[in-house]
Amino acid sequence: MRRQSLLAALAATLQPLASAAPATVHLCGDSTMAHQSPSGKIQGWGEYLQYSLSPSAFRVNNAAVSGRSARSFTREGRFDAVAKAVRPGDWVVVEFGHNDGGSLSPGRDNGRTDCFGEGSQTCTTAYDGKTEIVQTFPTYLKAATAQFLAAGAKVVISSATPNNPWESGSFSWSGTDRFTYYSWLAASQAGGTARGVYYVPHGAYAAQAMKNMGRQAVNDNFPQDHTHTSPYLADVMSRAFVLGLRCGTSELGRTGVVNSTSSMTSTFLGNCIPAANASMPL
Ligand SMILES: *[C@@H]1O[C@H](CO)[C@@H](O)[C@H](O)[C@H]1NC(C)=O
Ligand SMILES: *[C@@H]1O[C@H](CO)[C@@H](O)[C@H](O)[C@H]1NC(C)=O
Repeated sequence: MRRQSLLAALAATLQPLASAAPATVHLCGDSTMAHQSPSGKIQGWGEYLQYSLSPSAFRVNNAAVSGRSARSFTREGRFDAVAKAVRPGDWVVVEFGHNDGGSLSPGRDNGRTDCFGEGSQTCTTAYDGKTEIVQTFPTYLKAATAQFLAAGAKVVISSATPNNPWESGSFSWSGTDRFTYYSWLAASQAGGTARGVYYVPHGAYAAQAMKNMGRQAVNDNFPQDHTHTSPYLADVMSRAFVLGLRCGTSELGRTGVVNSTSSMTSTFLGNCIPAANASMPL
């Protein structure tokens, strides 16, 4: 009796501690998001996300890996590994596109190129000495999203960061590349906000911030090529993502972000960007 009540008291003490443990925001993506060696010139934006999230509510697990596409992240079991690590209440951010284009013609498959298209098309290829049935970008993202939802997470599908929009000398960003479209399509087809799947137009927010920064500041912060950012610009990319998240309706954006909307929109990050139409799951 005595021992039982002691145990009950102990359990009652531990219960709130356990439920107060921060949830995890898992990040799936490529080099533009991944941890890079601090001794190099570049850094990925995922390394900065934690600074805009309430530390008592969320911790970040940056599972992004350089050189990966939606296809190679799938084939290497990396979405599976994140789904296994997910606890109910966690979030997963999925952002790909930089490594997903290219050719699947014989001898040219690099293991990353997706099958062209937005639907359920498949392509057969030979990679690494094996026959591989390659899916489209939205198919890979929807399959990963279904795994995360089943594990109790909510999901943010985010469009890729732009390459340097000032590289021609004047600002140029169309916002119409197909992986941007595929990203919101996948979020919408995976169930949208009703199922806990949100889209962040990260590319558009990052382009807006870089337009406001101006040519010199942006050029100075692509130290290696037109894709990879300096630590400073990686932080800007992270903040652009956070603004996009906060301008949407997800609980992660509404309660997880420590910054007020005005503290972000009053800076060079710019304003909330309205949805292109009502079918965008923002
Ligand atoms: C939010 O505030 C924190 C703490 O001041 C800061 O480090 C972070 O960069 C801010 N994030 C944004 C998106 O402004
Ligand atoms: C919504 O906007 C997207 C992106 O601009 C477009 O591709 C899509 O066709 C639009 N959908 C509807 C129903 O208008």
